Amino acid sequence: MIRTQDIEAEFNTQLKRISDLSIREKVIETWCKASQEGGWKSIEELRELPFTVVTDPQGISLLQHTKAATEGALALAKIQMETISAFPYVDLDILMAGALLHDINKVVTFERDEKNSFRKKEGPSVNAPAFPGLKIARETGLPDDIIGVIEYECRKAVGNPPNVEAILIHHADMTTFDTMIFFNREERSCKDIHTDSRS
Ligand SMILES: [Fe+2]
Repeated sequence: MIRTQDIEAEFNTQLKRISDLSIREKVIETWCKASQEGGWKSIEELRELPFTVVTDPQGISLLQHTKAATEGALALAKIQMETISAFPYVDLDILMAGALLHDINKVVTFERDEKNSFRKKEGPSVNAPAFPGLKIARETGLPDDIIGVIEYECRKAVGNPPNVEAILIHHADMTTFDTMIFFNREERSCKDIHTDSRS
């Protein structure tokens, strides 16, 4: 069973940036419930989930991707708030909570296949309009702005973004995804590229 303290420890740095304790608790609760519904029995098992099943994830896990996208969204917000006087107000609680939960649907809808790899479950209960991860987030009572971010991501950012936070999260998210596409196209792994750049 994945416990509150497992998720707290995993996302400690990012969770601490959510000032509203009620939102922080609901983010943790959503991760715990989604993990339970997904059938993941331990934090070790959860750490094995890839961040994507549509391309080679290059060994990048969903938890690593979530942290990278969350920190990336924060960096995008901060630099623009610091340098662009007309930049719209960004609510950091919405940004952090939305980013930490932007892929929560994957926690419920990914499963192991016969080869012990991962795939997406099939059927109407895991696709639109069901989105079971989104449903769990709604049931915890998270604010509408955060639910809007998760729904926007569940719909693959098609349509109008619900708020400025969703735009920042989407671009941070796509940065991690598009680099994977590039690495796969080049048939070079992230590790090779790191090694090359250091040599
Ligand atoms: Fe993502």
